[in-house]
Amino acid sequence: MKPAMWYLMMLVVGFFYVYLTAIQYIRGQEIHQPPSNYLLQYDPQYFDHNLVNPAPSLSFGYHNYSAMTDFLRAMSATHPNLTALYSIGKSVQGRDLWVMVVSSSPYQHIVGQPNVKYVANMHGNEAVGREMLLHLIEYLAKNYETDEYVRWLLDNTRLHIMPSMNPDGFEVAKEGTCQGGQGRYNSRGFDLNRNFPDYFKQNNKRNQPETEAVKQWVSKIQFVLSANLHGGALVASYPFDNSPNTIFQQFTSTPSLTPDEDVFNHLAGVYSFSHATMHLGLPCKPGAPTFTNGTTNGAAWYPLTGGMQDYNYVWHGCMDITIEMSCCKYPMASELQKFWQDNRQALVQYMGEVHRGVRGFVKDEQDRQVEGASMKIRGRDVGFQTTKYGEYWRILLPGRYTIEVYAAGHDPAVEDFTVVETNPTLLNITLRRTPPEPEVLPSQPERQELPLPQPIAVDRHDRPPRPSYIGGPNQLQGAGQKNQGGIMGFFSSVSDQISNVFKIFG
Ligand SMILES: *[C@@H]1O[C@H](CO)[C@@H](O)[C@H](O)[C@H]1NC(C)=O
Ligand SMILES: *[C@@H]1O[C@H](CO)[C@@H](O)[C@H](O)[C@H]1NC(C)=O
Ligand SMILES: *[C@@H]1O[C@H](CO)[C@@H](O)[C@H](O)[C@H]1NC(C)=O
Ligand SMILES: *[C@@H]1O[C@H](CO)[C@@H](O)[C@H](O)[C@H]1NC(C)=O
Ligand SMILES: [Zn+2]
Repeated sequence: MKPAMWYLMMLVVGFFYVYLTAIQYIRGQEIHQPPSNYLLQYDPQYFDHNLVNPAPSLSFGYHNYSAMTDFLRAMSATHPNLTALYSIGKSVQGRDLWVMVVSSSPYQHIVGQPNVKYVANMHGNEAVGREMLLHLIEYLAKNYETDEYVRWLLDNTRLHIMPSMNPDGFEVAKEGTCQGGQGRYNSRGFDLNRNFPDYFKQNNKRNQPETEAVKQWVSKIQFVLSANLHGGALVASYPFDNSPNTIFQQFTSTPSLTPDEDVFNHLAGVYSFSHATMHLGLPCKPGAPTFTNGTTNGAAWYPLTGGMQDYNYVWHGCMDITIEMSCCKYPMASELQKFWQDNRQALVQYMGEVHRGVRGFVKDEQDRQVEGASMKIRGRDVGFQTTKYGEYWRILLPGRYTIEVYAAGHDPAVEDFTVVETNPTLLNITLRRTPPEPEVLPSQPERQELPLPQPIAVDRHDRPPRPSYIGGPNQLQGAGQKNQGGIMGFFSSVSDQISNVFKIFG
């Protein structure tokens, strides 16, 4: 290319960048955080008790915010022993972000039971997932007595189902609109699936209330497995969504694999092969991408910054995948029954995958639970932490593994174990207290205290506590914040903005 062309290109790119940044800045002006006390895990006072009369069966039609709220309240009134409704906060326009717990002990966590979540409709115009989750709630509650698998699932798992993360967007989206962006964003124009802290690139997007609510939620409950439901394609996509690549590699869409590639590929396959057609990997229309087995690595399809699944995985050790469940984002209501037939088995089957791998408790020598111990499976350097009851869970395929545990004031512990296909491995780990350092005699030279490294505070909103394992004994290789600032930061930022303009498949 001639130098003049380069200058022209740089000028155009530069203009775009300034323009998009300015828009972003203006949109993000007034941020108000959701009240901090809205969710205390397991505290019944935060559950919704606005009980209404039992509703008839859920229709195959779209449910707007008020119809959805009525349905959820009716369900929790009709099935108080299996469901409990709570809100994790409010959207920009003040709509509740509802979550239904479905479990045989809905108001109380049973120690040792893993938490699973589904989140739908974070893109407000991707509406199928929202209705699928309402049907899923009804299906689980109504089949508890008669379906052995459903009963086993609800007796051993705590399911959290969020039919809509973007209720404001849904209200302005239009039925029958298969593509486009109307209703995709929250009411301030932000794409919620680009609004999370990112492991590979700095994310400058203003933190939105819906995102903040989800971040608080996932920091309070240790979710082990989850999926978020979208539309615009038919594929199960798994982390990483982003890659450490620069702008020039971004457009080649190379895979960005996690150390848990085997597990993610398996989980995505469980969904696609339990789905009526997803596993066939057919294109949505001529020329659209095909997907072997109906699964893909996120970045191999197209990379994005600030997505929710990478955040769940890196920050909280939760195995999260993205289900694109309909070629048309907002199909006519007459098609919903077919979508339910196609997805029901997959939705139910996927949640059961949480009962795979290893689990147990971390305790000290006095048999007390150790909270906040950092753990990792050797060779898989994305970690996870114990809960306040000392519980931990990790999904793994059959094989031999080594687990490492680190907790302040205790010696590190290392244990070997085997995972089999049929049931999770139970492994309790006892930590020994580190003996106190021998007292330093006054005659010896004083030891110099090294200052602890401080996290770099770039933007308080966008930089939450560091992810569970980053900065720990073994960092994920080849990743990190190397690109921050400087010329590469500029380039990746520009390319993200451009990606956001063009790449809104799902
Ligand atoms: C929501 O749906 C209900 C029932 O389908 C309807 O009566 C109501 O007018 C709708 N509300 C809005 C704000 O569209
Ligand atoms: C809920 O469980 C309690 C105790 O097992 C039982 O007495 C009650 O009838 C159940 N309620 C419903 C609505 O099933
Ligand atoms: C697709 O699924 C089949 C059957 O499970 C498996 O043998 C094959 O390896 C999978 N292919 C890819 C690329 O994952
Ligand atoms: C592991 O610890 C839990 C909680 O203290 C206990 O209930 C369970 O029996 C222990 N399991 C084994 C195999 O030691
Ligand atoms: Zn989407």
